[in-house]
Amino acid sequence: MITGKICGTGSYVPPRVMDNDDMAKLVDTNDEWIRERTGIARRHIAKEETTSWMAGQAAARAVEQSGIAPEEIDMIIVATSSSETIYPCAACEVQKEIGAVNAVGYDLNAACTGFVLGFNTAQAYIQAGIYRTILVAGAESMSHMIDWTDRGTCILFGDGAGAVLLRAQEGTPVRMAAHSDGKKGPALTGLSRHRKDWDLEEEEKNAYIQMDGQGVFKFAVRKVPEIIEEILEQSNVSLEEINYFILHQANRRIIEAVAKRLKTDISRFPMNLEEYANTSAATVPILLDEMNRKGMFKEGQKLIMAGFGAGLTWAGCLFEW
Ligand code: UT7
Repeated sequence: MITGKICGTGSYVPPRVMDNDDMAKLVDTNDEWIRERTGIARRHIAKEETTSWMAGQAAARAVEQSGIAPEEIDMIIVATSSSETIYPCAACEVQKEIGAVNAVGYDLNAACTGFVLGFNTAQAYIQAGIYRTILVAGAESMSHMIDWTDRGTCILFGDGAGAVLLRAQEGTPVRMAAHSDGKKGPALTGLSRHRKDWDLEEEEKNAYIQMDGQGVFKFAVRKVPEIIEEILEQSNVSLEEINYFILHQANRRIIEAVAKRLKTDISRFPMNLEEYANTSAATVPILLDEMNRKGMFKEGQKLIMAGFGAGLTWAGCLFEW
């Protein structure tokens, strides 16, 4: 069977760092509260970097590591919901940046679930024999999506990008699952700030991310274990066979609760949210790149990725390194 093997990973995070003490200068919060409730210590915030530029940097690093010529890339998918421009889409900017002249590029918006859905979409193209080489990136500038006076949301997010390059090879097909529940959309919203005919004050107030934090927390803790079990069941693979569960990095307590529900040791749930906070669609590929560059993956290891977020959406997949 043909599947898309990861043959290169890359990431980019802005050098500008804001730690929890910096946040306490902006809103009524403190380092202890943020660490205890979320596990976050710092976040990287873009200065001049745009979303598509960060995606391009991450993509270039993934391509370089793979040793594959950019001209061989058939498709580029960028998962983002915070790109500064609606068009040209970030994927076309990435194409230009890395010289992938033969690729088709488009963006995919499924908030924090976006990268996993992009990865699954790419696998579907490869496993169907349509394309051989696909670059998937997740890139976000959450810093211009958030209200910097709202302590309930601004402490949670950061900026950055990650990317993987997939190449068709013989192997075990990726197993995937994905869901959404539009009725729960109001739990996590962010509006376009460029719409006409709106009352400006209302627009300003509502444009930033609005969130029912506890509602999203409960949703994630219920749905992530469910989708992992759904994927395992369809693959005939047991929980014990999974080397790592690479989850969307939103809150350490969510990941701990998922591990507990699955009765699985937390050491199999790598985390880097202490350093980068929640970079939405970029969390999973940034973590993948860090783990890869640390040499944590071995051929044939079984990995599960899962994301969840606005929509509400949630998705996952099981693949072999
Ligand atoms: O990618 C998906 C994106 N969304 C998420 O992942 C969100 C998931 N939810 C969460 O991570 C958590 O619900 C939060 C971190 C957002 C909040 O944690 P919590 O334990 O659910 O706190 P809470 O909302 O119940 O608030 C507890 C208290 C409140 O004060 P009172 O009413 O008890 O006096 C809040 O006003 O903490 C207060 N609070 C804060 N205090 C200090 C809320 N934010 C802050 C803050 N610093 N930044």
